[in-house]
Amino acid sequence: MEKLNGKKINTAVFISGRGSNLRSLIKYYKKKNSPISIKLVVSNNPKAEGLIYAKRSKIKKYITNFKNINVSEKKLLKKLFNLKINLICLAGFMKILSRNFIKKFKKPILNIHPSLLPKYKGLNTHKKIIKNKEKYSGSTVHLVTAKLDSGKIILQKRIKVSKYENENTLEKKILKIEHDLYPEAIKKFLINL
Ligand code: GRF
Repeated sequence: MEKLNGKKINTAVFISGRGSNLRSLIKYYKKKNSPISIKLVVSNNPKAEGLIYAKRSKIKKYITNFKNINVSEKKLLKKLFNLKINLICLAGFMKILSRNFIKKFKKPILNIHPSLLPKYKGLNTHKKIIKNKEKYSGSTVHLVTAKLDSGKIILQKRIKVSKYENENTLEKKILKIEHDLYPEAIKKFLINL
């Protein structure tokens, strides 16, 4: 982490639900040599189970429903600037950020997507993988651009899909690799900045 001069990157994690990736990122941020410091957890869903992890670690949370996307994003940007956030990690965040938001934020935004991008962009990836009898699947951490699931790939991990796999078993398998993949990808991305 020499290039970061020992300074940790103020990070916000955006979630919408379970938050198991948020949990793994919090675990990572608490490590002594971690390059990030999670300062904020954002959710569009006040009932997101993952908010419990923010609470347990005394990380600030910010809820906005995105009903009026312009208003929500404007207020959110203000919050991010106030907290000097330099990196956003989307982790199961189910809203699509506008081109305007991405442009105005100016700093990198990362996302984790449960497929081997560029294959299987969008929703219901596990269902599609099973239906198409794919032999492999995996997860990808990539940069967020205005085009859905299409930004530069930072890191990808592959797993084998067994003959007996169903959506649930596949989801579990992929989540398990994601919990190591996201921190690894962040480290790789920040080293190369
Ligand atoms: C993960 O599989 C991630 O790849 C996708 O949404 C899921 C979120 O899971 N974008 P969790 O909320 O982190 O448990």
